[in-house]
Amino acid sequence: MIRLQNVCLNYDGGPNILDNIDLALDEGSFHFLTGPSGAGKTSLLKLIFLAHRPSAGQLDLFGQNVKTLTRAQLAMMRRQIGVVFQDFRLIDHLSVYQNVTLPLRIAGKREADYRDNVTELLRWVGLGHQMDSKPETLSGGEKQRAAIARAVIARPRLIVADEPTGNVDPEMGIRLLRLLDELNKMGTTILIATHDNYIWSSFNHPRLHLENQHIQRLAPEAAPYV
Ligand SMILES: Nc1ncnc2c1ncn2[C@@H]1O[C@H](COP(=O)(O)OP(=O)(O)O)[C@@H](O)[C@H]1O
Ligand SMILES: [Mg+2]
Repeated sequence: MIRLQNVCLNYDGGPNILDNIDLALDEGSFHFLTGPSGAGKTSLLKLIFLAHRPSAGQLDLFGQNVKTLTRAQLAMMRRQIGVVFQDFRLIDHLSVYQNVTLPLRIAGKREADYRDNVTELLRWVGLGHQMDSKPETLSGGEKQRAAIARAVIARPRLIVADEPTGNVDPEMGIRLLRLLDELNKMGTTILIATHDNYIWSSFNHPRLHLENQHIQRLAPEAAPYV
């Protein structure tokens, strides 16, 4: 599903942040991406959700070399990727319901066809009673649940999350991860950057550790969270 071959990334010809990365992630897999601050986790995720191009090397997503794609094809591919940011990026003047349904409206879906699904999803993430609230009235954990709901609503094949638990307390962090774990059980491929040890050590998923421009693959260490 995701394949990097000899991928390098630098900014404006500066030193390589990522150097000759080789990585293959299977469809349906769940990986944590760890590493010290500044190691390049966000940069690697940006390559994968198509916000950046590799400076060198080849990136294949969903079996296609992204370099060969037209702008329209890239946009189509981008719609199959749900992204969760640490700072939520909800739109302030829209309600929770409007934020979460944004990807569907962009895709030209009719509200009558999705209203019930969205309501069900929002109940599932515990925001059923806050559908009409504005983001500013929500707690950090609620905002992140809304952001996750928005990332998953269009049923992406891949979900990429950058420090999704960075702004929530540990208990909420585990709850958010369980939600992503459930989606993974239904077949969604998941990649989550985190520097929270308690997060990755609470789930039985392999870890990619990025440090000094290189990636090391580590087996799951944890007992599965119960
Ligand atoms: N847009 C950018 N322009 C220049 N340098 C950047 C940019 N984004 C990140 N960097 C640099 O790349 C390195 C890796 O950053 P980042 O990918 O954010 O790491 P992490 O997410 O692991 O903390 C850092 O040294 C950072 O300063
Ligand atoms: Mg980062």
